[in-house]
Amino acid sequence: MNAFQDKVVLITGGTRGIGLATARRFLEEGASVAIVGRSQASLTSAIASLEGKAQGCVADVAAVEGCRAAVAAALRSFGRLDVVFTCAGSYEAAPIGEVTEELWDRTMDPHAKGTFFCVQEAAPALRETQGCVITMASDAGLLGLRGGWAAYCAAMGAVVNLTRQLAIDLAPEIRVNGLAPSAVGTEHLYADLKGGVYGGLETAADPIQAVADSVPLKRIIEPGEIADAVLFLAGAKSMTGSILSIDAGSTIALQ
Ligand SMILES: NC(=O)c1ccc[n+]([C@@H]2O[C@H](COP(=O)([O-])OP(=O)(O)OC[C@H]3O[C@@H](n4cnc5c(N)ncnc54)[C@H](OP(=O)(O)O)[C@@H]3O)[C@@H](O)[C@H]2O)c1
Repeated sequence: MNAFQDKVVLITGGTRGIGLATARRFLEEGASVAIVGRSQASLTSAIASLEGKAQGCVADVAAVEGCRAAVAAALRSFGRLDVVFTCAGSYEAAPIGEVTEELWDRTMDPHAKGTFFCVQEAAPALRETQGCVITMASDAGLLGLRGGWAAYCAAMGAVVNLTRQLAIDLAPEIRVNGLAPSAVGTEHLYADLKGGVYGGLETAADPIQAVADSVPLKRIIEPGEIADAVLFLAGAKSMTGSILSIDAGSTIALQ
């Protein structure tokens, strides 16, 4: 039997990148999967790429009503929840003097607020199944980064400690763990690097190589590797409150 047969997984930000790769892995392991993103076009194309096997919902988790809608849609589709992966969010850099209130809010809200209110909304259903939450943080939640990442580092730092606090508040019924990757090679990341808008590397001759060279293992993580870590955490019955560094060594070395 597949490891997640009869389990229901909700993935916010499941329409692209890491979230979509994770949806695929859970489906391969027999789970029922609900994915969430803001764009109907991305949702439709994601479900098509998953051969119609996932359910989906358009919702903006930067707002509380979007979090409620995302959880309600998954429960309507499948009637239970076993795993919630809060992966929705975005990243952009700006020099400190150019950080606007809008940039701050669109960075903080899906991550800090969205993570909290999705978990708040899902908690009663997760309690019934003794389920778990996996949050998406970043090495930027553990260290500062060069290149104008104040809003993102603040958001990711919030997710890191929120993960620990939720793990305390929701124990013993619900486990809560998080991931802290370094650069993950999604279309979004490569578009930013190639477009010269990735903070700190705007003028690098080869920004993709520069990102890889910035970590001890000299590589960009594959989305599928993060997906494997999500499945690991979903099955790790003795872990709660952990932040798993899947970062090619980014947090062990001074640059
Ligand atoms: N890629 C990396 O290097 C890296 C490293 C560490 C951590 N992370 C974190 O991992 C997550 C995914 O990154 P990624 O590279 O896979 O990003 P991505 O390819 O841009 O995908 C982001 C996903 O989140 C959804 N989303 C964004 N804002 C949302 C909102 N307010 N409400 C609902 N859905 C929303 C997007 O759908 P719509 O656009 O349709 O809304 C999309 O499905 C992000 O939280 C990011 O901060 C990424």
